[in-house]
Amino acid sequence: PRPGWTADTDVVVVGSGVAGLTAALGARQAGLRVTVVSKAMLDDGSTRWAQGGVAAALGEGDSPEQHLTDTLVAGAGLCDEPAVRVLVTEGPGAVRRLIEQGAAFDTDPVGELMLTREGGHHRRRIVHAGGDASGAEISRALVAAVRSAPDIELVEHAMVLDLLKDAEGHAAGLTLHVMGEGSRDGVGAIRARAVVLATGGMGQVFSATTNPAVSTGDGVALALRAGAEAADLEFVQFHPTVLWLGPQSHGQQPLVSEAVRGEGAHLVDAAGIRFMVGQHELAELAPRDIVAKGIIRRMQEQDADHMYLDGRHFGAEMWAERFPTVLASCRAHGIDPVTEPIPISPAAHFASGGVRTDLHGRTSVPGLYACGEVACTGVHGANRLASNSLLEGLVFAERIVADLTGRHRAGELPERTVDVAAAEAAQPVPLPAPETRARIQHLMSRGAGVLRSAESLAETTAGLAELSRDAAADAAEQKPADPRVETWEAANLLLVATALVTAAAARTETRGCHWREDHPERDDARWQRHLITTLDTTGV
Ligand code: SIN
Repeated sequence: PRPGWTADTDVVVVGSGVAGLTAALGARQAGLRVTVVSKAMLDDGSTRWAQGGVAAALGEGDSPEQHLTDTLVAGAGLCDEPAVRVLVTEGPGAVRRLIEQGAAFDTDPVGELMLTREGGHHRRRIVHAGGDASGAEISRALVAAVRSAPDIELVEHAMVLDLLKDAEGHAAGLTLHVMGEGSRDGVGAIRARAVVLATGGMGQVFSATTNPAVSTGDGVALALRAGAEAADLEFVQFHPTVLWLGPQSHGQQPLVSEAVRGEGAHLVDAAGIRFMVGQHELAELAPRDIVAKGIIRRMQEQDADHMYLDGRHFGAEMWAERFPTVLASCRAHGIDPVTEPIPISPAAHFASGGVRTDLHGRTSVPGLYACGEVACTGVHGANRLASNSLLEGLVFAERIVADLTGRHRAGELPERTVDVAAAEAAQPVPLPAPETRARIQHLMSRGAGVLRSAESLAETTAGLAELSRDAAADAAEQKPADPRVETWEAANLLLVATALVTAAAARTETRGCHWREDHPERDDARWQRHLITTLDTTGV
């Protein structure tokens, strides 16, 4: 891309969910100039959709050690324990600081934080807001804080394209396409001393997902193109209870929070039988991968395309007070959870893997940081524990701020010299036609969803390779698709889908949320390790 304008800052943060805005506010407080780039509006990402809440050992009798144990068990042998230790020990303080930023969590009549339970947690340890509107409250508080911090520059409706690096290979800013009016319309560049990726997940590689339309794997794609390592991409978590809207439903689907099960709702089949009882000591509150598999197995046994979540015994008042978001979205689709079981099926929810970082959020490219869902800090392993994701965003964003602040004070965060015009000469990514998105989603859901096999993954790989060839051929024939959000998103989706499938095909075992029909057992001897992805290993 040919940059038409340039701007300068100290730290450019890409993404405006809990991780990005926490990093931005912290870096600003440390005296750094900060620019936040968001692809849509500031609150359009995944944070706002989070229902359950934030897990932290804040309850009486709870401890970081117990939170650590539950996290490690859910992660099925692949969590990095030092990263989990950081998460659970720094978590309670991070939640308190979030409250200081203005987030109002639900409290009991004496003002104590109310705590709920979700799958895999042996204790009540999840703070929530507005009943089941936790993410919306966190987003509201952080967006308000960022908007009232006059020195944080906000660039909305801007699609980030590629990383700029200086002659030493240090991150030095990025190129982006601003879709709007005014002097910044079109492709430009922001020069910076460091870049923080907080772009969220990639749920849109699948047909049905809880993720909003903007979750197209942009951060992982940018990082791979910049030469960074990604890890654990094969571990995509499918949320067990997503409102089932019919076989053709497509795109973002309404979530039915795990907290609904945490408060006692039951998973049942069409005959009303609780099929999770006897499968795991925690029944409906087993870790998420186990519940999703239990649902899929029952669906297969009964040739059904959905199961049910029965919370009729809550009564109308509890539904309205504790789960207003779920109640409203069910009713909007003609289902009344007060009087009938909710039809549900699993859908893509969370990328446990992402851009690989150390304990300070540093990626393998100097000066490029990552936090939140885009990152793979090692805390989730093969399966994320419920409500650990907002926590991860908070804790590791704070760690990035500490790293940046330390470097800044030590004079180790100098201005970078970068020849912005060199971006012009960079190899352009062949841009696929926008309709490629639906084809990727179809291929991925058919062959690389909850259930995978060598055969299904090979078919998916072949289909994706054909889409890449089509895009390359169009570019070679001088009829590339127009550079705009839809085509950049399609390019990113194609890259991350290919990387994901390559990792899923390589991992010939079943572990956590990676379920191979042809390799049904966990194989610690061969696979108790992370799979690292670079651009070279994707074959794109
Ligand atoms: C939920 O409310 O079930 C989502 C919680 C999570 O994904 O951590």
